[in-house]
Amino acid sequence: TMEGALTARDRVGVQDLVLLEDYQSETAFLNNIKKRFKEKLIYTYIGSVLVSVNPYQQLGFYTPYHMEKYQGVNFYEMPPHVYAIADNTYRSMRNESSNQCILISGESGSGKTEASKYILQYLSVCSASNEQVEYIKSRLLQSNPVLEAFGNAKTHRNDNSSRFGKYMDIEFDYRGAPVGGHILNYLLERSRVVHQASGERNFHIFYQLLEGADDVLLSRLMLTKSPDKYAYTNQGKCAKVSSICDRRDFVAVQKALKVLDFSPKNIDELFCIVASVLHLGNVTFTQNEDGHAVVERQHEIQKIANLLGCQYEQLLQALTHRTIEANKEKMQSPLTVEQALYARDALSKAIYGRMFDWLVSNLNRSLTNKDLMRKNVIGLLDIYGFEIFKSNSFEQFCINFCNEKLQQLFIELTLKQEQEEYRAEGIEWEPVEYFNNKIICDLVEERHQGIIDILDEECLRPGDASDNTFLTKMEETVGKHPHFITHALGNSKLRKTIGYEEFRLVHYAGEVTYSVKGFLDKNNDLLYRDLKVAMSESKHDIIKQAFPVTELARLKRPETVGSQFRTSLNRLMDILMSKEPSYVRCIKPNDAKMSDRFDETLVRHQVKYLGLMENLRVRRAGFAYRRTHEIFLNRYKSLCPSTWPHYDGSPRKGVDVLCKYLDYKEGEYRLGKTKVFIRFPRTLFATEDAFQIRKHELATIIQSVFRGWRQKKMFMKMRDAVTLLSAQWKKVLAIRLREKRKKATVNIRKFILGFMTRLQPRCAENTEFLDYVRYSYLMRVKNHLPTSVLDKSFEHAPAALEETGALLQKLNMKNLTLKYVKSVTPQRKAAMEEKVLASAIFREKKKGYDESVGNPFQEKPRVEQLKPKMLAMIDAGEQTLYSCSVTKYDRHGYHPRPRTLILTSTATYLFDAKDGKLKQKIPHQELTGISTSSLGDNVFVLHAPSDKKEKGDAIVQSTFVIETITKLASIAKKDKEVKIVENSSIVHDMAGGKHGRIDYVVGNDVSVTKSKTGLVVVSYLLFVV
Ligand SMILES: Nc1ncnc2c1ncn2[C@@H]1O[C@H](COP(=O)(O)OP(=O)(O)O)[C@@H](O)[C@H]1O
Ligand SMILES: [Mg+2]
Repeated sequence: TMEGALTARDRVGVQDLVLLEDYQSETAFLNNIKKRFKEKLIYTYIGSVLVSVNPYQQLGFYTPYHMEKYQGVNFYEMPPHVYAIADNTYRSMRNESSNQCILISGESGSGKTEASKYILQYLSVCSASNEQVEYIKSRLLQSNPVLEAFGNAKTHRNDNSSRFGKYMDIEFDYRGAPVGGHILNYLLERSRVVHQASGERNFHIFYQLLEGADDVLLSRLMLTKSPDKYAYTNQGKCAKVSSICDRRDFVAVQKALKVLDFSPKNIDELFCIVASVLHLGNVTFTQNEDGHAVVERQHEIQKIANLLGCQYEQLLQALTHRTIEANKEKMQSPLTVEQALYARDALSKAIYGRMFDWLVSNLNRSLTNKDLMRKNVIGLLDIYGFEIFKSNSFEQFCINFCNEKLQQLFIELTLKQEQEEYRAEGIEWEPVEYFNNKIICDLVEERHQGIIDILDEECLRPGDASDNTFLTKMEETVGKHPHFITHALGNSKLRKTIGYEEFRLVHYAGEVTYSVKGFLDKNNDLLYRDLKVAMSESKHDIIKQAFPVTELARLKRPETVGSQFRTSLNRLMDILMSKEPSYVRCIKPNDAKMSDRFDETLVRHQVKYLGLMENLRVRRAGFAYRRTHEIFLNRYKSLCPSTWPHYDGSPRKGVDVLCKYLDYKEGEYRLGKTKVFIRFPRTLFATEDAFQIRKHELATIIQSVFRGWRQKKMFMKMRDAVTLLSAQWKKVLAIRLREKRKKATVNIRKFILGFMTRLQPRCAENTEFLDYVRYSYLMRVKNHLPTSVLDKSFEHAPAALEETGALLQKLNMKNLTLKYVKSVTPQRKAAMEEKVLASAIFREKKKGYDESVGNPFQEKPRVEQLKPKMLAMIDAGEQTLYSCSVTKYDRHGYHPRPRTLILTSTATYLFDAKDGKLKQKIPHQELTGISTSSLGDNVFVLHAPSDKKEKGDAIVQSTFVIETITKLASIAKKDKEVKIVENSSIVHDMAGGKHGRIDYVVGNDVSVTKSKTGLVVVSYLLFVV
């Protein structure tokens, strides 16, 4: 947008030069377009005027995509573009139902024709369409290659320079669809047909024909393929141009002619005429003895007559003679060679020029819409720009006059527009200082006083009128005019710069010095009547139409070129004045057709003569910036609390409030009826800067508000979802519960029935129940299995499963036992085995055994009892396995003696507990028995044979009687020899074959006493059950 461009103004200049702060400075102006040009931004506005700098390279912004983008958007919303101008024009035409025109101006090679083509393309692509419209669209587009072939040429400045002015009306119907067109052409540069400067070419069509025509056509036209064979195409010495493909262009021209409905006959005639001109150029004359011109190679004339459909003799005669009337008598006067050459060239130019006019009128016939309904038009003016050469002639005079007129129109229209806008908006108009070039226009065109009329007068005047008398006449008539200077009129300094046969005009765009040479001839554009007659009698349509017989009958002198041009220009001005204009001002960045060069001097000059500074000044005279109240308020309302976010009153009032709040000074702005006008760019920039800052603030606020809003919205959504979900879930749960209950009822019923029939053989009613009973029993068993061998409990089995239960219990016990056994260590196993042995020996036989079961047996000898003295007595091969402290009773006196009992793998040792002396050793094989009572005492007897050496039976008392006896039984393997004596005495051997007796008595205390009969052992009462 334009406003968007404000922010980018430092980077690539301003998109609208009106916003240049220093609008008076040409340098600032130039810098701005230069900066943009370097960035390939070739377009810049001055208000609604488009300034275009020729990029001399293909740029990417002419695609259908871009055409689409520019459609129907606000003019200032997109970067400047020729499409924006086209679109704006098109929309104004449709919306206001008004006629529009787009004026494209600029010097040769600045891109006018390209711009007009882009506009035409845009209008064609973007307007409404249907089959019939497509047809007219293609004709409009196809008119270009034809006109360019016949009207464009390579010049120094432009390989495709238009050598005629062109104004094209495109007609649109009420729907905005193009339905027709009309072309006006101006002043074709006919002199080019017979003469081209070095490095330039004749019109394209000559080369196209020679390059592109097939052999059949060439031979019919009696042409050979090389342009250097023809005088009219070889002067410039540059028939081949790298940027031009004549062959391809010729194909395009032929196709276009067909599309445009030219008949094959007419097409053929066109090529015949082009060929005839080429042949004419090669016609030469010699002088006969009378000094008269004679055609050198008459067969050339034959060819030409053939091609033009006229009579050979007549043509031949007309090229060398002219008919003059003297005293009402017609006479044939022969021409000199010079005159003949002049006549030949005049004929060439006339034929070509009139063919071109015929071409345009025929194009118009093809484009005409005969429908009488109301149409609106968009006019496109692509006309030659201001030209200054080293030597300037009649053509430049006309062209520059044309540009003066256009400048005049431009100033008037823009000023008028500006003025009208202020009036419509009710704002007082402040006059603008600008140079009005009307004075120069008058110098050229004023009746009787102007240069054109002076020239005409000289052309008509009988006598010795010449280019020089024309110069003198001018000096006499307009010599005092401030914009006219000649050598004679100038001071000494000026005289050095102006030749004798020159005059200088001070154009608005600069001073141009014209050479008067050829002015009269060119203005007269004389074609001898005889040649006209020959042409008018042609059998060919085009020639016949181009040289109408009626012209011959007219008595009045034909209008001069100058007058004609003036007339047609004034008509053009009327046409343009009646329309709403838009402008494209083209600038050429350098003379070398280079894409990357910006020649400041050259551009400065163009800026000057295009009147762009003037344009800018007019635009800026009042107010730099203007927008409708709505748009302005909308953009900047956020800058003022009373207008943000909405203003309730009218937009105008809103803008008023806003401007006051922004502290705009009086005189810096005005409020029109529909628009606000701001005088200085800086005011707008400041506002825009403030807006940019505000925008960021707003963005932040909006973001947070939005986030909050979104959060809330999300929460509400979630809450709704939760409500819905829980309702649904409750429903699901209710359904499930109901189904569970239903199932349960069925199950209970089944259960009861099963229970009632459980004792019957398996049947439908009880199957499930029985299975359930089994299942639940097995599950119970599984979950309550005893985990210890000692736990004898087991799940009680139902009647039907008693056997199973018993089997399972057994199985489980086996399993547990196995597990237990596996977990038992060898030591523990040994200990167990001893306990089992003890059980075998003592269980239910000796009192006190049950109590001893819980106490584990000593595993190893009691080390503290083993004295080294004792151990020394034991053989090295023996294993010391058990020891304990005991009391030994003598067999005779029954004296108690403290002893240490040690069991080895082979014998039982009894040591003196105090001094460690060995008292008795009983090898296991000699041990014949072990006796103890069934009572709770702890006395036992080791039976051993008593001979001379051995001491025989030993009576021992041990605290751990069960342990000691069991160990002995185990180690000595004498378990079978252990005797538990039931009757209350034990008999033991004594030395000498005698026997002693031990009696057992139950008493309160444990004691061992001697009696008359032997030993009396008293057991605990406790043990007596
Ligand atoms: N917008 C453009 N993009 C690319 N090349 C361009 C553009 N305008 C002009 N040119 C180049 O410059 C040449 C001259 O342009 P043209 O329109 O014929 O100039 P003019 O009609 O003003 O004499 C073209 O042939 C083309 O090569
Ligand atoms: Mg052009």
